[in-house]
Amino acid sequence: MRSVFSSLNVSNKNNLTLTAQNARLDIIGELEAIVMYQNHFDATDDQDARKTIADIMEEEKVHVGQLFGLLFKLDPESKVQFEKGYTEFMQQD
Ligand SMILES: [Fe+2]
Repeated sequence: MRSVFSSLNVSNKNNLTLTAQNARLDIIGELEAIVMYQNHFDATDDQDARKTIADIMEEEKVHVGQLFGLLFKLDPESKVQFEKGYTEFMQQD
């Protein structure tokens, strides 16, 4: 049985749904990387390590944004729902 976290079959490279699903999986990968880098950042007092890890972690956050941009292009409904959720969050007390 295929894990949801494994790459999906890419037999039809023009399948927008499949590419959107892969973008979602890639977002998960970037978020997992951020969690890992944050843990490694917190685990050391070495300033060179902390500086390097912090720099890489920032890049991973940019990658999350890039992948959301891709996902929103492939699946505009995802953008609508994302913005709805963001707006609901911003309006809470
Ligand atoms: Fe990345």
